[in-house]
Parts: sequence; structure tokens; C-alpha cells
Amino acid sequence: MVKNREQFRSTLGFIFASSGSAIGLGNIWRFPYLAGTNGGGAFVLIYAILMLTIGASLLLVEFVIGKNSHANTVKSYGNINKRFRYIGYLNIFTSFIILSFYSVVGGWTIYFLFKSITGVLISIPGDEITTVFQSFTASSLSPLIYTFIFLALNIYIVAKGIALGIEKYNEFLMPLLFLIILILLVRSITLPGAIDGIIWYLKPDFSKISSGIIVAAFGQVFFSLSVGLSTMVVYGSYLSRNENLPRASALVALFDFLISVMAGLVIFPAVFSFAMKPSEGPGLVFITLPQVFSMLPFGYFFLVLFFILLVLAALSSSISMMEVAITYFIETYNIRRVKISIIYGFIVFLLAIPASLSFGILNGWKIFGMQLFDLFDYFSANVSLPFSALACAILVGWFWNKEKIKAVITNGNKNNNHFFTYWFLIVKYLIPPIITVIWLNAIGII
Ligand code: TRP
Repeated sequence: MVKNREQFRSTLGFIFASSGSAIGLGNIWRFPYLAGTNGGGAFVLIYAILMLTIGASLLLVEFVIGKNSHANTVKSYGNINKRFRYIGYLNIFTSFIILSFYSVVGGWTIYFLFKSITGVLISIPGDEITTVFQSFTASSLSPLIYTFIFLALNIYIVAKGIALGIEKYNEFLMPLLFLIILILLVRSITLPGAIDGIIWYLKPDFSKISSGIIVAAFGQVFFSLSVGLSTMVVYGSYLSRNENLPRASALVALFDFLISVMAGLVIFPAVFSFAMKPSEGPGLVFITLPQVFSMLPFGYFFLVLFFILLVLAALSSSISMMEVAITYFIETYNIRRVKISIIYGFIVFLLAIPASLSFGILNGWKIFGMQLFDLFDYFSANVSLPFSALACAILVGWFWNKEKIKAVITNGNKNNNHFFTYWFLIVKYLIPPIITVIWLNAIGII
């Protein structure tokens, strides 16, 4: 264990921080547009099942690995089994990729927040918002400036450390986020015709289920819960000895799921009420919502509120991704937190440049038939995160001492623990084959 390592100050702080990592653009931006392009209710149903079974179990897997060694990602795996330290390296690499495209979208949210504050978004005719979104994302310089601002905010928070930066920020943010989304939800479901949207969103049409939908729902579970990247290993590593990890895992998974479902209930009733199409893609929340709000009383207020929500949610997640690499570099190379946060932030910015330009001048530039932004997204959510989650499950199920795991989870309590027994069976026998099949499908082998 590294000397003088920081710790979360309270259980609640830890739960808020982990929820803050989980709840982000993944819930409010990615989940609704995936549900929108993958057939609504059917996608939501599969997502719910995978999330509350496999997702929640994997969350606990990561917390246990982190809490066991109180060290950075590479060491956390390496301490259990030397060969598995490569998962740590893979995670640092993937966090770098996700953070780069995540920051591009984070930049968009800041831009849209400004545009909604100045009243521009609310005053232009609805159909021109598509043009605003497209011409902004396709331009070269402007989105990069906002990406840069977004990364600068990340650097600022991460540089302050765990308790004073990450924990404090999330404690204030999570309750606020919940309140804002609740206000918006009430507004949306009371619109005329909202019921059509609610039905489309929540009533599964089983004929729509396909392997593509399952792969997408699966990837979204990883992305949304922040598993498969060591984020939760690293947060778990900052825990003191006596936390109730199963309870924390269940709560975080539940909050994360709830916020996604609520985000859909903000967006789809409104989309249907104004007869717009749900399958807009990544522009969904950026294009559709301003259109909706512009037609509502107090639209200005709701729009500003919504983009504040989006910026804050994005930040509480991106800092957790950044922390994966930062903890590693601090502990391995003894670099000061502030210094490495700045350096790392800049390097991420360099990778964000092509990701952002792929909406504009690099649009025609395709690898494996995808433009760069989509490739980054696909590689991370559907290939790298599941792969690393699979490796974690195998490590815990097959390469670690069961009694040791139980001791970490139950804080040394030797009594029979049914929860532990079931969870362990799921991790050992159920999760590996399921992830393997879906993963092979995602990379096109079956
Ligand atoms: N879960 C966050 C979201 O939903 C994003 C995120 C944070 C993430 N850390 C991660 C995604 C680790 C994948 C892996 O927006």
C-alpha cells in the first residue's frame, strides 16, 4: 500500500463520487440516442436486464479489486496476479481514447450552454437548430476551443485530489443533478401527447430485438456504469477499510439506471409531443431539446437548466476517467498531481483534435468504415470495455483466493453469506461466457 494515500472522507462521499462517475453524458446524451436509434422499448428492456444483473455484479468486481490493494490500476491487478497487470495498461490506453471523444462532446455541452444563456438557441426557428448544431460541430476551430475549456475544468478539479476535488465536487453536484432532471421530467410528461412518447419508450416491441441491439445495450451498460476501465477500481482503492461494498454497488447501479430512464422520460415525451423523430442520433439532445423548449412557456429557463445539467454530469464522469491515468502516473513516476494533471490534459486534447475534426474536414476519413469519432466510441464501448470486464471477472472468479475475496467484501466477517455465494457463482460461471459471446459478435467474428 502506498504511504499517505488519500481516502474518501465518508461513505456518502464515496457513493456520490461513484454515482457521479457513472452518471454522465452516457445517461443523458448516449442512452437516449441509442434507445432512439435501436427501437425504443425493446432496447430499454434488454438494457435494464443486463444492467441490474451483469452490470451491478461487475461493479462489485471492480470495487473489490481496488479496495483489496489500495493502489493504482496496474498494481491493483498485478498484486492479485502478475499477468493481469496488462489490463491496467489497456485501461489507461482506453481511458485516454474515451476521454478524448468525451471531451469533444463535453465541449459541445459548454457551447450549447452559452448559446442557451445568451438566448440564441431559444430565439431561432426550430428547424435552424439543426443547422446551428451541424455547422458548429463541422467547423474546425470553435469546437476545439470548447473542448479545451472542458479539459481545463477537468484539470482544475483533478489537480485538487480525491477528497477536496472529486469528493467535494460530487457531493454538491449529484443532488443538484437529480433535482434538475426531476423538474424537466415533470415538464415533459405533462405535455399534450406525451403519452405516445412514453409508450414508445417503455413498451417493448419484441420484433425489434436483434443482435445489433443486444451489442449496443451491452456496450451501453459498460459505458454508463463506468466499468471495464478501472474507474471503479481506482475509486475503490481510495476507500477506507470498512465500507459495505455490495450495498454501494447496488445503489450506484440503481441510481445510474434511474437517471438514464429519467433522461429518456425527459426527452421522448417531448419529442413525440412535437412530432419529431426519435432516431436523430448523437445530435438528439442537442437538436431536439432546444426545439422542444423553444415552443414552451419558460422555455429559456428549462433550456439553460438542461445544459447546466449536461455540463455538470459530463464533468463528474470525465474526472473519474482522468483519475485512472493520474493515479497511475503519480504512484509510478512520483510526479506531482498538479503537474501530471496538466500534462495529461494536454495530451488528451491532442487526441481530441482529430476526433472533433472528424465531424468536419476529416469527415471522409474512414477506418474500418467508420469515421474517427465513431471508431473511438465503438472501440471503447463495444470492444475494449467488455474485454477488460471479462478479464476482471476471470481474474476474480478463477485466479484469486475465494476466501480472500470474501474477506474484502464482508470486511473480514466469516459467517455464511448467501449474497457472496451467489455473486461469486455469477461472476465465475455466468458472466465470462455471456461477455465472450457478445464480444465476439461485436468484433464481427460470430
Ligand atoms: N459512465 C460515464 C457516463 O455515463 C462515462 C464514464 C466515466 C466512463 N468513466 C468511465 C465510461 C469509464 C466508460 C468507462 O457518461
